[in-house]
Amino acid sequence: MFTIIVKENKQDMANAAFEVIKEVLDQKPNAVLGLATGSSPIGLYKKMIEDHKTAGRSYKDVVTFNLDEYVHLDRNHSQSYYTFMKEHLFDFIDIDLNNVHIPNGNAEDFEVEVERYEDELSKFHVDVQVLGIGSNGHIGFNEPGTPFASTTHKESLKESTRNDNARFFASIDDVPTHAITMGIASIMKAKKILLLASTSYKAKAIAAMIHGPVTENCPASVLQSHPDVVIIIDKAAASLLADDGH
Ligand code: GLP
Repeated sequence: MFTIIVKENKQDMANAAFEVIKEVLDQKPNAVLGLATGSSPIGLYKKMIEDHKTAGRSYKDVVTFNLDEYVHLDRNHSQSYYTFMKEHLFDFIDIDLNNVHIPNGNAEDFEVEVERYEDELSKFHVDVQVLGIGSNGHIGFNEPGTPFASTTHKESLKESTRNDNARFFASIDDVPTHAITMGIASIMKAKKILLLASTSYKAKAIAAMIHGPVTENCPASVLQSHPDVVIIIDKAAASLLADDGH
């Protein structure tokens, strides 16, 4: 079931997203959070840091699982998702890094790594999974065509995804060609999903996710069958929905 919230700007989106996370953390200080990278959750992470600093919320018992990581990028590379999470959240809260899970994009054996990650994930039940959406409807790095039954796996990135992410690298050739990502079935196990998206660039994917057929061609459309999905978007991302945002 979708709860769709349309906001004026990024700050309002971040505030609304934080309310969702806050409700979970207030009830359960040892919550399991599924986390995402990309520009969409940055405002939310800022609010979480602010809440830690001003309200004193502790993350010491919180467990986190990130959706994905690039393959063959050093963990300390400026664009690795490990670095992203440290720079946008983990370095500024009191999280125990032993409770942090991010796929190892430099594993020697990827078959072993994807199994290890899924095994670890299956020991927990994610209370809320933060998600962005790719312009092609991907969630995590599950590109169009990924089976809905997929668990954590190594994914070959589409050219469109590599182009979308090229802005973070010196050139398109530097953008990794593969990633390890939680699968669609792994994501769907979360009790609650919080999906964030902004700009008209995401409008088509948002409309397809909400109103399109449930098809593996649009991975995010699977969320139509999840019991609790909160979608927080700006007006531009909502522009292909009806006037009331639905
Ligand atoms: C990458 C991530 C996705 C994310 C997407 C959107 O592809 N792997 O998980 O949803 O970017 O990013 P942004 O929020 O910057 O638009």
